[in-house]
Amino acid sequence: MNNDLSIGNGYGKSILYNEHFVVYNIPAIVSAIGMKTTATIYQSDRFQLVDERLETLGYKKEKQDHQKQSLQNMFKAMKLTPEQTKVKIMLLGDLVAASGIGASAASCVAIARALNNYYHLELSNEEINQVAYEGEKGYHGDPSGIDNTAATYGGLIWFQRTSGGSIMEKIKIKKPVEIVIGNTGKIANTKKAVEGVRQRKENHPEKYEDLFDEAEKLVYEARKALENFDLRETGRLMNENHRLLQEIEVSSKELDLLVNTALDTGAFGAKLTGGGLGGNMIALTPSKELQKKVANVIEKKGFKTLKTVIGISSGGKNS
Ligand code: PMV
Repeated sequence: MNNDLSIGNGYGKSILYNEHFVVYNIPAIVSAIGMKTTATIYQSDRFQLVDERLETLGYKKEKQDHQKQSLQNMFKAMKLTPEQTKVKIMLLGDLVAASGIGASAASCVAIARALNNYYHLELSNEEINQVAYEGEKGYHGDPSGIDNTAATYGGLIWFQRTSGGSIMEKIKIKKPVEIVIGNTGKIANTKKAVEGVRQRKENHPEKYEDLFDEAEKLVYEARKALENFDLRETGRLMNENHRLLQEIEVSSKELDLLVNTALDTGAFGAKLTGGGLGGNMIALTPSKELQKKVANVIEKKGFKTLKTVIGISSGGKNS
């Protein structure tokens, strides 16, 4: 055992295309954002989790049971026994604990990395990702794995769930692009949102088949637009993706208001991001000036915003 404190980080994320569709093996694009959660481990006489992350009011309380289950899953996956884990884990960092920005996955990756460092487990990135995936199950039940993948590897990622696991490819873009994330202030229940889509898909198979076909076609065009650094097209396809998400009924009054406000203020594109029914909206706002302008107008309407970037390259192993 290591008596020194150990640290681990996990990136926040924003899904640029195809949340929900990704659950049904349709490719999605996700980007790590320039904010992360840090887990620090201190020696202690008992297990303690001290969660000092900033939060959307009520988020941490609401997720307390999920967090407990998530920790249990991760300890099991790391083959750590309760006797071994007499440690204090402190969660901090500049990623707000909120719905839709990968807060749970970032915390799972941060904890897995910190424990890996503390106990010298020598886990690879792939294994950290796997442990975090088990942790994510504590929050979401049957997650696609997109959040923990972004939180582990950082950067811009093409992600596809398959019957035998998942495919992940890095997408390279010319330079990071400014975004605004607008928070509805409503804590989203991803599990409920995913379940709602499943039920409606079962009840209206033909409608949903068409929508899912559109989502699949769109994401290939979006990848091309990003790789060509065609930000107008990237934004237009985000708007199209939001329309599809509205059609599968995972948007909300507040999310639509945030999207329309961002677009009216000059954003290149905007959509809900993550589970929806609350949580966050992402707007593509290339340039610091446009980013500031869009964030200011949203804040004037009483919503909180984050100004960050997509497409930052990832840090090294175990960072
Ligand atoms: O709510 P978030 O940020 O964890 O995003 C969930 C993304 C979904 O596609 C809705 C679910 C999943 O497991 O991929």
